[in-house]
Amino acid sequence: MKVSIVASECSPFYKTGGLADVIGSLPKAISKLDCEVEVLLPLFHSQVPLELSYVQTFLTTVKWRTNECSVYEWEQNKVRYLFFEHDDYFKRDHLYGYNDEAERFIFFTHAIIQYYLLCEKKPNIVHCHDWQTGLLPLYLKQHNTLKKIKSVFTIHNLRYQGIFPSSIYNELLELPKELYSTVEMDGNISFLKTAIVAANYLTTVSPTYVNQIQTTEEGFGLDKLLSSRRNTLCGIVNGLDQISYHPASDQALVYPKSPSPDMKQINKRAIQIELNLKVDNEIPLFAFISRLVPDKGVPLLLEAISKVTFPYQLAILGSGDSDLEQALLLKRAPHIAVEIGFYEERSRRLYAGADFLIMPSLKEPCGLNQLIAMRYGTVPIVHSVGGLKDTIVPYQPYLYEGNGLVFSNGNANELANLLNDACSIYHHKEHFLQLRQNGLHTDSSWDQSAKIYYDLYHSLAMTEKRRPLWTH
Ligand code: GLC
Repeated sequence: MKVSIVASECSPFYKTGGLADVIGSLPKAISKLDCEVEVLLPLFHSQVPLELSYVQTFLTTVKWRTNECSVYEWEQNKVRYLFFEHDDYFKRDHLYGYNDEAERFIFFTHAIIQYYLLCEKKPNIVHCHDWQTGLLPLYLKQHNTLKKIKSVFTIHNLRYQGIFPSSIYNELLELPKELYSTVEMDGNISFLKTAIVAANYLTTVSPTYVNQIQTTEEGFGLDKLLSSRRNTLCGIVNGLDQISYHPASDQALVYPKSPSPDMKQINKRAIQIELNLKVDNEIPLFAFISRLVPDKGVPLLLEAISKVTFPYQLAILGSGDSDLEQALLLKRAPHIAVEIGFYEERSRRLYAGADFLIMPSLKEPCGLNQLIAMRYGTVPIVHSVGGLKDTIVPYQPYLYEGNGLVFSNGNANELANLLNDACSIYHHKEHFLQLRQNGLHTDSSWDQSAKIYYDLYHSLAMTEKRRPLWTH
């Protein structure tokens, strides 16, 4: 079976969020399962820090413009990474946020179709991720030689949909008139909606999120359409790259050895010094590492921290909306370190040095940070939504079971109470160490989820009968 995974980000090449972590690790896990795997990506920078080999050049048309697209490859762990080059579209300072966003990703889609058309061995499965690749399932169906390929589309976050003015239909898309209603949503063109209609199978990144996106409150106008596809929609929890996130060999850490209590203490001391916090192991250190957007619960955190009555330290690291950045900066104090920006290595030192990681997300399709935290011996404190609900089990002191602290109503008082509880648990060493231990023993590998994807690919590849496009 040949699987072609298509996305716009992939660690370690380029990353703006969890999508990159998934694309950096899922293909490797799948390639272990008797499967040929390739990953198709735009070549965003002129120099991906690797030796790339040239594969081919072909012409790609975006309406009246015909451009050359060159493809380069790199192989590791049996996964073939293919980079689609077009400097005008992709060689820019940032990955996203440009006026010609639709055109850039339509070019990527058209180029991929050309590549598949020229491929001798066509994939059995094309697995697309997020709106940037949302048109691909529909395009596959427009070509006789590609029609048989089955598509899987994964929604990493329903909020981000790729919505563009309807004028692009005639200007940029090479689709027949009768498909307009397939790509149209509320008078605009929606890449995500197109995928939801056209893909053979839909997945998202946790079972709880599957239910949430089928409700009016969290469906962003797509809930009914998603419900109509409930038989071909499922939630598969993300795994974590166990090699990249391995405290014993993580070069970003001061003391990369096994996360025993001693090592934790050394890493905690190091990060307290690095962040100018008082060096004191008796004070619990909370971390908040996140994109700074309302969905991640920043306002909740801001309100809750003023209500914590026990001594604590808090380290905040992230960037995002400027009003939230400013509000957080105003909280700076001797016991609160706030750093705006994202520094991968520092974030790792923080995971390793903190005692607790706070994730008060209002919405969290899966969340990877809670998994990273547990791997580094840090106890997650989470709001019970989406993947946080599916991966974190509330600690029960009588049973010594559970791997985190959980609140469920999403209000600041509740979070403040939980932070106070966390401070007292921190001083009950027996429970705190047990809680940490339970996290360290939580399996966050891809093994189980990769097998679920593999079985899904397999059963789709076996189904010869093609179903018609979904209608709403
Ligand atoms: C998105 C989601 C996050 C998820 C990640 C990877 O960033 O917001 O919850 O973990 O994608 O699937």
